[in-house]
Amino acid sequence: MCGIVAYIGSKEAYPIVVKGLKRLEYRGYDSAGVALMNGDLRVYKTKGKVSDLESAAKDADVSGTIGMGHTRWATHGEPNDANAHPHLSLSGKVSLIHNGIIENYATLKEGLEQRGHTFTSETDTEVLAHLIEDVMINSGLSLADAVRASLKQVVGAYAIVILSKDNPEHLIAARKGSPLVVGIGSEAGEYFFASDATPLAEYTKKVIYMKDGEIAIVENKEMTIKNIDNVVQVPYVHELEMNLEMLEKGGYDHFMLKEIYEQPRSIYDSYRGRFNAASGTFHMRSLEEYSEQLAQIKRLILIGCGTSWHAGLVAEYLFEDFARLPVEVEYASEFRYRNPVLFSDDLVMAISQSGETADTLAAMDLAKRKSATVFGVCNVVGSSIPRLSDAGAYTHAGPEIGVASTKAFTSQVTVLTLLALGIAKARKTMSDKEISKVMSALEEIPDKIEKALLLNDEIVKLAETYKDSRNFLYLGRGYNFPVALEGALKLKEISYIHAEGYPAAEMKHGPIALIDADMPVVVIATNSEHYEKVVSNIQEVKARKGKVIAVVSEGNTSLDKIVDHVIQVPETIDALSPLVNTIPLQLLSYHIAVMCGCNVDQPRNLAKSVTVE
Ligand code: M6R
Repeated sequence: MCGIVAYIGSKEAYPIVVKGLKRLEYRGYDSAGVALMNGDLRVYKTKGKVSDLESAAKDADVSGTIGMGHTRWATHGEPNDANAHPHLSLSGKVSLIHNGIIENYATLKEGLEQRGHTFTSETDTEVLAHLIEDVMINSGLSLADAVRASLKQVVGAYAIVILSKDNPEHLIAARKGSPLVVGIGSEAGEYFFASDATPLAEYTKKVIYMKDGEIAIVENKEMTIKNIDNVVQVPYVHELEMNLEMLEKGGYDHFMLKEIYEQPRSIYDSYRGRFNAASGTFHMRSLEEYSEQLAQIKRLILIGCGTSWHAGLVAEYLFEDFARLPVEVEYASEFRYRNPVLFSDDLVMAISQSGETADTLAAMDLAKRKSATVFGVCNVVGSSIPRLSDAGAYTHAGPEIGVASTKAFTSQVTVLTLLALGIAKARKTMSDKEISKVMSALEEIPDKIEKALLLNDEIVKLAETYKDSRNFLYLGRGYNFPVALEGALKLKEISYIHAEGYPAAEMKHGPIALIDADMPVVVIATNSEHYEKVVSNIQEVKARKGKVIAVVSEGNTSLDKIVDHVIQVPETIDALSPLVNTIPLQLLSYHIAVMCGCNVDQPRNLAKSVTVE
């Protein structure tokens, strides 16, 4: 969602800010703007892309060594020039960019209007710019103190950066509930700010992940971080494990395709150094440190949204099979508003790529308040979910830029597999030999995915055949029911074709009514104990003239004469089959979307990390 980039130092700020905004484009946005300080405070903003902003500012004065930029994903007010950030205070002297939502903005606005303020946009953000100036004027406070006093009045979530014409050497930033990362530059007094670390990677490896309630004040080439009560904080400086190569397309047409092809490596990175297959032992800090507590768990509740929820569904099968635990899988957005019955021996596992999904964070918060232990499975280092977790494991998939999640999903499933095995070991529900067997099978997965990726040309032809279909059905059973859901989600989010995933046997309870000669049905029919049953479901589709694309295990030719297309994938154990079977489905949705002329990496209306409800 909204993206923030800011710079203070001795270099020209505009190119740094614009480049940073481009790096954040993957988050999703509909307008863009910058504010630059060079004696005067200048603001340029427009509806549309960062490139539109560049065109709009082509002949403008963009000089200055202090600047900030913003990409807005509309919440309050439609996407237009007026609602784009930065916003200005009444006098135009204070400028502010904001990610998040100010929930009590209407009340604050009413108070300001009574004091003579008029507004030029419909946003909650403009209210905060006015409020800060109002507090400064009426209380005689310094900029930093006025920001602090104003934030005390704010209910909601924010990451903000503020520049002020009357404080031309200052930059102030603050966060609560929305992410903000500070990069420490190589020269004295040089600092970068961004919503996530991607715009910082080419400038510095030293970063600070700001904590909730913190305010960073840069003045006189020094940065001080204070809490909302004005107490100076000592930040932890992290070493950034990200390089430029990870943030570039590397010769691929789209980030999504690059990320699909990265999966042999990203899956390997997810398990690398975390177990020894020969002995069936683990080297995972969370498993080692919490093995006693994990052995005592009575129930596991998995929460997440979208693709991460699908990874949770795969994990339900894993934890039941391996660790013999009762498992529930919940949409975080529903869980947060229920009154769930939770006990102190429940483990709530939050799954998220970005670590910033608002619904997942709220669900974790609820679980903690109800005394459950919360474990985070997350990809983005230093994000909010790991920080809110009692324990956790990173997925180490590397930055995922394409909005459609691909490598993050398979890495989540990989880490969840290890956690299921680790808890199985702690609960003694599997022998070391059985655990070793699954570990060895996992070690073969990267090679099998390499092989599955060779199906690309075949899948291009398939995409050509079905690109004009307006509906798709995806069917799977057992471990591959969540894969069917994930295949359908991938197709609809990037190609805007309606698709539904179903447990294959559920088809006859409703969706079978949809089947006719125009309905392609993708059926995951790899070898498993359900194979024969899935074949019966295929027959049911064929009897109604549906077009069947069957994903089968390598060497299985028995469906060749029954279905319309067969995709043979390398075989693995059933529990790990989602890792392999998901690959052709990712490729199919990718190629159909490209053929339909869709913006694959930035599909309409979607944001990479959904930081609002
Ligand atoms: O960052 P998260 O994993 O918490 O995000 C959850 C969903 O928003 C995300 O998986 C979304 O469904 C993706 N667009 C799926 O490709």
